[in-house]
Amino acid sequence: MNQFSEFLLTPLFFSLSISYVIDGATALWCAAGAGHFDVVRLLLSHRANVNHTTITNSTPLRAACFDGRLDIVRFLVEHNADIRITNKYNNTCLMIAAYKGHADVVQFLLERGADPNAKAHCGATALHFAAEAGHLEIVKELVRCQANMVVNGHGMTPLKVAAESCKAEVVELLLEHADCDAKSRIEALELLGASFANDRENYDIQRTYHYLHMAMMERHRDPNNVIVKELLPAIEAYGGRSECRTMSDLEAIRVDRDALHMEGLMIRERVLGSDNIDVSHPIIYRGAVYADNMEFEQCIKLWLHALRLRQKGNRNTHKDLLRFAQVFSQMVHLKERVVAPSVEQVLSCSVLEIQRSMARVETATEAELPSALDNYESNVFTFLYLVCITTKTNCGEQDRARINKHIYDLIQMDPRSRDGASLLHLAISSSTPVDDFHTNDVCSFPSAQVTKLLLDCGAPVNAVDHEGNTPLHVIVQYNRPISDFLTLHAIIISLTPLDKSTTGVSEILLKTQMKMSLKCLAARAVRRHRITYRNQIPKTLEEFVEFH
Ligand SMILES: *[C@@H]1O[C@H](CO)[C@@H](O)[C@H](O)[C@H]1NC(C)=O
Ligand SMILES: *[C@@H]1O[C@H](CO)[C@@H](O)[C@H](O)[C@H]1NC(C)=O
Repeated sequence: MNQFSEFLLTPLFFSLSISYVIDGATALWCAAGAGHFDVVRLLLSHRANVNHTTITNSTPLRAACFDGRLDIVRFLVEHNADIRITNKYNNTCLMIAAYKGHADVVQFLLERGADPNAKAHCGATALHFAAEAGHLEIVKELVRCQANMVVNGHGMTPLKVAAESCKAEVVELLLEHADCDAKSRIEALELLGASFANDRENYDIQRTYHYLHMAMMERHRDPNNVIVKELLPAIEAYGGRSECRTMSDLEAIRVDRDALHMEGLMIRERVLGSDNIDVSHPIIYRGAVYADNMEFEQCIKLWLHALRLRQKGNRNTHKDLLRFAQVFSQMVHLKERVVAPSVEQVLSCSVLEIQRSMARVETATEAELPSALDNYESNVFTFLYLVCITTKTNCGEQDRARINKHIYDLIQMDPRSRDGASLLHLAISSSTPVDDFHTNDVCSFPSAQVTKLLLDCGAPVNAVDHEGNTPLHVIVQYNRPISDFLTLHAIIISLTPLDKSTTGVSEILLKTQMKMSLKCLAARAVRRHRITYRNQIPKTLEEFVEFH
């Protein structure tokens, strides 16, 4: 796998309350969730509590709804199970059955009076869950039972959710919903078409055109009362284009895939809003496809745009930053020109991300701490990859000054690994991990160039880690074959005060590299006790004794 588009992970749009460790589950809960009807019957006949909840407030009924076993669901309800108990996210039994696509269970719960308009903590209703997962029959059933078209916590209606996730049949059904006005119908069609243009699993450029065309017809249906688009200002990352306004604009790009892709991204940003959590992923995907085709400039523009949106929305951008280190590394490796201002902007975002990840560590609960620390440390490593890339980038004086300012800023924050290693320790340590998707073609540690750059930007040479070691202590323990001698030599020169001569450096090198052998001890004893040795031992050994 060396394609960026394959490297991307599909984001999780909804986090359901199902985790792998279930605390506080009774035998009944387990039997209901695992589909053992006979065991459920037996336990209930022995007066098991039908409403008992787990730590996350999940009931046996909820477990059976998740599993889709109507027989067990019915049996539990007939034994007075409470269908209104929600889990700790206020997520109802109806929602879980709707999301998992169990139409018969959904229908049964509705018959028994489940509220189709109950809202989960995230603001979603059962209709959102069914629409997002694309379960047409369930959407129909919910609508028949008066499920309303309301917005969730991200400002999305079920119609928008379906459009955003390319669920065309659900969209077409929901367009008929009584709560939809003309504008939201048009925007849903546009969003659906736009989503087909930039989704790895559902890419379908014909359908993009089809739905954009339908939407344009709707906008111009009444020539005296055209529903005009409220356009965003042109965004450079989208090629500085602006959205089609008329049917002839649209027809002009019918067979121009690139233009349709960009049209899709512009529409998504307009309809969803720049701060919507779902906006960035298709931008990143489109950038990855450019990178796969070696169109790096386009890729970087899109990724920078997505990075800014995500950082503005206060989202964790560690993966975004790492992706930049990877693509820049690939470019350096392929001898493609890396533009200094791009690296500079990414470096600046990286400093902000480290600042935020430091704060997340500070405020983390005990349960959150391990992942907060991992994230913080990974961000620091990514920063070092980026610094390493700047040493291989052609920079003008101004660019270099800006880059160095970011490095200086981070040094002032004094980030540390969990072993207490400072940036300088990490730059000279062979145990600093290097990402292996392109990055390791270009970056490795110890790195003399990164060390020198950090020192130039004010990294304190005498910082100590948790074991009391300065960077110099760490580097002199480095024992790799002599081919690395130059790196080692360069680093030690950088780390030791300027007035030390090269001989001084070699001396440190030799002293520290030399294993204290029996031969050495003997040589020292000869010197200490002034035993005569000249002309009494082989000439080569005389030099050896003198050295001690
Ligand atoms: C379970 O909840 C239902 C509805 O509130 C109630 O009627 C029933 O008595 C409860 N059963 C138990 C065992 O608590
Ligand atoms: C869950 O719903 C109840 C009312 O049914 C409400 O009081 C509570 O604030 C909700 N909790 C969350 C986390 O949304």
